[in-house]
Amino acid sequence: MPPAASTIAPHVDALFYAVLGTTTLVGLGVLVALVWFGVRYRAGNPVHRHGDIPAAQARARRRVEVAWTVIPLLLFFAAFGWAARLYVQRAAVPEGAAQVDVVAKQWMWKFQHAGGQREIDELHVARGTPVRLLMTSQDVIHSFFVPAFRVKQDVLPGRYTDVWFTPTLAGRFHLFCAEYCGTDHAAMGSGEVIVMEPVEFQRWLAGHPSARDAAARGEALFRENGCSGCHGAGATVHAPDLAGLYGRPVPLADGSVVTADERYLRDAILLPRKEIAAGYPPIMPSFAGRIAEDDLLDLIAYIRSLAEVRPAPRS
Ligand code: CUA
Repeated sequence: MPPAASTIAPHVDALFYAVLGTTTLVGLGVLVALVWFGVRYRAGNPVHRHGDIPAAQARARRRVEVAWTVIPLLLFFAAFGWAARLYVQRAAVPEGAAQVDVVAKQWMWKFQHAGGQREIDELHVARGTPVRLLMTSQDVIHSFFVPAFRVKQDVLPGRYTDVWFTPTLAGRFHLFCAEYCGTDHAAMGSGEVIVMEPVEFQRWLAGHPSARDAAARGEALFRENGCSGCHGAGATVHAPDLAGLYGRPVPLADGSVVTADERYLRDAILLPRKEIAAGYPPIMPSFAGRIAEDDLLDLIAYIRSLAEVRPAPRS
């Protein structure tokens, strides 16, 4: 096994070994019974046809059958419950996680820290700080896989997936693409996640200054693409105010309510007719094919940065 280098890794390992141990025991039990019965009954007792079995023996048989049905069932439920709890834990991003945007492409990983620092095939993170990766692909399906953290998540074109981990060991850990993605798929398996002590990581961030952070880049794009003409402060067009929007429930024209997460924001920009905010005319143009994936992530970083801004009172 690779080193267990994240908070979730020991839990994944415990489940893995428990399932491995249980299945090994059951497998051995079946093997031993198989050999034992093969030897014990090799001459062949008179074969009972159905109905010829004495009542006491029939009852014993039923008990055995119930036992070999119920016990494995309980074992499966136990494994399911355990795994489901871990799955939920793996899916719930902790508060205060550092945000990193990821765009996968043939054949590299592009990372951008919230502070605007960009990296390719290398990701620097701080030990002890949860990191949340918001990921998409600009071509085919890739898969983000760091064995030492026990996390693996498909990275899909046309949508966002996320994954988080809290590294517990400093060091360099292998980053793989775990989905065959074309000729140089193997080359995507040479990336590294570099876990540094927090102080060291701050020094690294400071040593790679970026003119603009992700949200500031997004703000510039917000103007360049004309978004501010309708959604900006003082716009005369009746368009949803983006201040304080992120993470909030959004009532839709069809009566349903969705959460304004990254998935919603992405679709609102690329597929504006899909979910129309209640009370607004469907006049938003689609930006599909006009915005690169990295720019879209920057735009969303900007809208996310407005989450704490109080929405302007509407008349
Ligand atoms: Cu990307 Cu395999």
